[in-house]
Amino acid sequence: MQQQLFKLYLMRITVFGTGYVGLVTGVCFAEMGNNVTCVDVDQNKLKTLREGKSPIFEPGLDSLLVSNIKANRITFTDDAVSSINNTDIIFIAVGTPPKDDGTADIQFVLNVAETIAKTMTEYKLVVTKSTVPVGTFKKIKETIDRTLKARGVSHGFDVASNPEFLREGCAIEDCLKPNRVVIGVESQKAQEILTYLYEPFLKNGNPILAMDPASSEMTKYAANAMLAAKISLMNEFSRVCEKLGADIEAVRKGIGSDYRIGPHFIYAGVGYGGSCFPKDVSALIRSGREINEELHILSAVEKTNQLQRQKFIETVSKNLNPGSKCIAVWGVSFKPGTDDIREAPALDIIQHFVDQKYLVQVYDPVAAENAKNYFNNHPSIKFFDDQYEALKSADALVIPTEWKSFREPDFTKMKSLMNHHLIFDGRNIYSPKYIRQQGFKYHSIGRPQ
Ligand SMILES: NC(=O)c1ccc[n+]([C@@H]2O[C@H](COP(=O)([O-])OP(=O)(O)OC[C@H]3O[C@@H](n4cnc5c(N)ncnc54)[C@H](O)[C@@H]3O)[C@@H](O)[C@H]2O)c1
Repeated sequence: MQQQLFKLYLMRITVFGTGYVGLVTGVCFAEMGNNVTCVDVDQNKLKTLREGKSPIFEPGLDSLLVSNIKANRITFTDDAVSSINNTDIIFIAVGTPPKDDGTADIQFVLNVAETIAKTMTEYKLVVTKSTVPVGTFKKIKETIDRTLKARGVSHGFDVASNPEFLREGCAIEDCLKPNRVVIGVESQKAQEILTYLYEPFLKNGNPILAMDPASSEMTKYAANAMLAAKISLMNEFSRVCEKLGADIEAVRKGIGSDYRIGPHFIYAGVGYGGSCFPKDVSALIRSGREINEELHILSAVEKTNQLQRQKFIETVSKNLNPGSKCIAVWGVSFKPGTDDIREAPALDIIQHFVDQKYLVQVYDPVAAENAKNYFNNHPSIKFFDDQYEALKSADALVIPTEWKSFREPDFTKMKSLMNHHLIFDGRNIYSPKYIRQQGFKYHSIGRPQ
């Protein structure tokens, strides 16, 4: 077996989908010496990738991409057929976007499963990295079985679940040194192949946790739901703090030092965004409803998150100086370190003030292009390459994303540029006392105003 596995280790891996997950995973598999083929249907992405450029911003990704292309360990193609025929392990990392009713759309995952079954001529291990509702592995198996039957062939295959826990903004680090790898497997063979594949990633002693596929699929939803719940709970506390004169930042430190609670994911702010938490929380709630299990806490987590954005927008609107016309916004991505703007709180904030006929002047270090496309080059939204330029003649500054360059800005320069010295900080990055000493009116989240 060891010899067979060694052979597999040197064999090729195919990854379907070159988005935030598929591309990072593919590059990291290549970095460990594997031979990787990345398949996508988006010709623009493939063209960019073949030129050695990453279509997404992710720290450290560009240099790994270039070095692995040069070493011939990674290639990019739309040729699914030859990729499938020349590989043993196939990862599915395509999108699972929310449908209108909030359920996860798994059609792209099942399309890939069908393509694999239409093409395969020998055993394949099919591994789902996309976040999929519990039970999707059965649907993938059924799709492959049905398609093989229609072809009149009976090749062996395994379907495994291997949810991804990387965080955008530190995805390379997370992928190369995961704090755990979860695999959902039904066969010894699948477990051994995946254990062998991940062994070089776990040299630090972090565990590979093997379980059944349904539990593995649920682990991903449970992880995101738990993290989203922590954020919403803190946001709820922040509203109480604000009204009763307590300071959420002091409270955060007070509870974060309790080892049962921990210091992570307990920051109050304008709420969570991104391509995962909103859609995964929503999908889990809907999955529960399908089996008559109402997830009351998660419904409240989702509602609180929406409310937090609305309250922030209300705070800005109520406290603008009469006659204000121009708002500056620092940060559009849903969090620092990424150009991903999916479900970013900044989008709702910008849209609201554009609808209210304000001119909105925006700065983001990497997400401006995505935001320009999202707003379809709206004439009332101006983008700037410099954070201070965006402040010229602004009546207020709104900060929805805590990029590092916002933390210690030149307040004197800011004052000289802005019409009114007013800051709405959606991430509590400044000390209220200090910023007031600098001559600004300041509103933050859950702190005495
Ligand atoms: N982004 C994250 O931080 C993150 C983290 C963990 C898990 N996930 C999950 O991973 C999955 C992928 O997320 P993402 O953010 O990378 O998505 P993405 O939208 O950035 O990328 C998906 C890619 O799949 C491609 N694709 C669609 N159909 C295809 C097909 N038939 N063949 C080949 N390629 C195809 C698309 O063109 C696109 O490039 C989702 O299920 C998501 O929930 C995402």
